[in-house]
Amino acid sequence: MEKFVIKGGTPLEGEVTISGAKNAAVAILPATILASGKCVIENLPCIRDVNVSLEILHALGAQIRMLDRNTYEIDTTHLTGTEVPDELSRQMRASYYFLGALLSRFGRAQVAMPGGCNLGPRPIDQHLKAFSALGAVDSVDYGMISVRAQKLTAAHIFFDKVSVGATMNGMLSAVLAEGQTVLENCAKEPHVVDLANFLNMCGADVRGAGTDVIKVRGVAQMHGCDYSIIPDQIEAGSYMVAAAATGGNVLVKNVIPKHLEPITVKLERAGAVIEEFDDAVRVSRTGELHPLKINTMPHPGFPTDMQPLMSVMLSVAKGTSTVTEGIWDNRFRYVDELARMGANIQVDGQIAVIEGVEKLQPAPLRASDLRAGAALVVAALMANGTSEISEIQHIERGYENIVEKLQALGAQITRIETHPAALSQAL
Ligand code: UD1
Repeated sequence: MEKFVIKGGTPLEGEVTISGAKNAAVAILPATILASGKCVIENLPCIRDVNVSLEILHALGAQIRMLDRNTYEIDTTHLTGTEVPDELSRQMRASYYFLGALLSRFGRAQVAMPGGCNLGPRPIDQHLKAFSALGAVDSVDYGMISVRAQKLTAAHIFFDKVSVGATMNGMLSAVLAEGQTVLENCAKEPHVVDLANFLNMCGADVRGAGTDVIKVRGVAQMHGCDYSIIPDQIEAGSYMVAAAATGGNVLVKNVIPKHLEPITVKLERAGAVIEEFDDAVRVSRTGELHPLKINTMPHPGFPTDMQPLMSVMLSVAKGTSTVTEGIWDNRFRYVDELARMGANIQVDGQIAVIEGVEKLQPAPLRASDLRAGAALVVAALMANGTSEISEIQHIERGYENIVEKLQALGAQITRIETHPAALSQAL
């Protein structure tokens, strides 16, 4: 078991380069199945969820060549399987994209009920609604979801809930279906647009991604392409919050500033100064932190994945903040850990009321999921003294080189094996 040991209290300063978007990568990798040819995918973040996606493709019979740490050539011409191995699909939520991609190309797919962060119930009824509208039948047997179709035919699908996963699976399953599929009440996140761009580069005909209505005209065949994944909005937002929370000054490079606007607006209201460049933002703060009201919502609202990070920062703002979680039922589990650090946060259902305290105290902490874990890293960076964070495998699912990137910003963070001798030598 590994831990992060973090000696906080130092403002972060310097430059950080943002990696490719996890949530785009975990959809685009399964989408290479539709290309039934060679794709070169660049700017893949080197993180566990990407490795698991590559392992699944390999297990299905894809030929995979690593061109460099962040670039892979994937040839899905001679795929042999349509069943995603149970032990791999359980490791991440996004394994559900293999359902849409395999169904589309082979008319059948089998994937175990997906794993990933425990944020409360994570149904996939809207994904299945899209598959069924296109002509597929689904069944769940012994924890495995199977979908099967003789032929997929275009349909008009209205999602009852705005869902990133269902929108992307709707696109994946419709690109080769006969006729024009209309998807309504779609998610508009940047990674939805990135998947549509990738599919179009492979010869698909997808229009309207980034709006409520996406139209997919089925094509007979798709081909491989070279594609570079967009920068990760949430990784960028995490470093922006870390800079503001520690009173630092950080240039966050390789970003699309437009994607960061919902985060930028809130950070400015909290007292940070943000300068935008073509593909970078500089975040600094010298004055005090102001309290905020935050409601998480589908894009372009404030992203739920930034909620734990923002709450950590607000725990030392001067005054009372309210944070309303509008997407997930169980996304305040990190609050108990923050309480150990002296934070004053009362949670009632989906609302957290945060009374700012003077400062956070160091403590032993446990990451409960990916973004909660990242939030605890920021909390530890803010506290004067040494904190340890365990269960860091959650954090490493989604943040490439987090230790090296933070160290380059002046943070005192080390990754250690958890036996007592290692801990005493760490700092
Ligand atoms: C994706 C992101 C996740 C982020 C979330 C919301 C990936 C791999 N993960 O998750 O980090 O927190 O978007 O921005 O991209 N819902 C249903 N039925 C469905 C599907 C979803 O009721 O069939 C509900 C969910 O319970 C949730 C809401 O819709 O309340 C949004 O979920 P969704 O957008 O689907 O999240 P994911 O795609 O799983």
